[in-house]
Amino acid sequence: MAQKDIGNKTPLHELKTTEQVMKYYDEWSKNNKYNKDMFEWEYSGPKETSETLSKYQNNKDIKIYDAGCGSGLVGIELKKYGFNYFDGGDISKELLNQVPDNLYNKLEQIDLNKKIDKEDNFYDVVMCVGTFTFAHVKAHALDEFVRITKKNGLICFTINEAIYINYGFKSKIESLVDNKKIKEIKLFKSNYLASKDVNAWLGLYKVL
Ligand SMILES: C[S@@+](CC[C@H](N)C(=O)[O-])C[C@H]1O[C@@H](n2cnc3c(N)ncnc32)[C@H](O)[C@@H]1O
Repeated sequence: MAQKDIGNKTPLHELKTTEQVMKYYDEWSKNNKYNKDMFEWEYSGPKETSETLSKYQNNKDIKIYDAGCGSGLVGIELKKYGFNYFDGGDISKELLNQVPDNLYNKLEQIDLNKKIDKEDNFYDVVMCVGTFTFAHVKAHALDEFVRITKKNGLICFTINEAIYINYGFKSKIESLVDNKKIKEIKLFKSNYLASKDVNAWLGLYKVL
């Protein structure tokens, strides 16, 4: 599938290492540019995922982990849907610095391609929005998301459609389902970044 360029930046598919990705977002955060671009491009990932979660999660006092939280756009949406406890982690210190005060319970710089320093069965929900894309976080992170989520908890994520098959996400999800680690609740092509003709799979899975 042809790769889509998003604006005048280095195309995402040219990024190769986590170091390059971190610098890319640190740079993009300057002058609030990431947030401004997302607003202007009508990026709908945070709203679509939060809305989907809210349809299947009535208890608003649950513990949520926002993996790859960036500047906190998912936290802002979760709050609108009534959720009030979320921790966040991201590789970009500069984006983390832009998360609004008092929105997240705890924030940390973290490389999600490595083991996550959290106990097993700790969160009720793991959200991961916009972070499964070129050179970002790899499919094996789903194993960690399952590990840190409580039984009968939920994981909700987007996967850029251009990497869904080629980067092993489809097969990883199928293997987790086959091995009865997760159960599909919803999987659909979301709008995500429709203004830039970039779509993503949106998945909501129950952890078994
Ligand atoms: C498109 S942004 C999405 C941010 C946020 N979830 C949102 O919806 O606005 C992708 C995020 O993934 C983060 N990221 C990329 N690679 C990462 C890694 N290895 N570990 C943790 N975060 C990473 C970036 O820093 C960036 O904040």
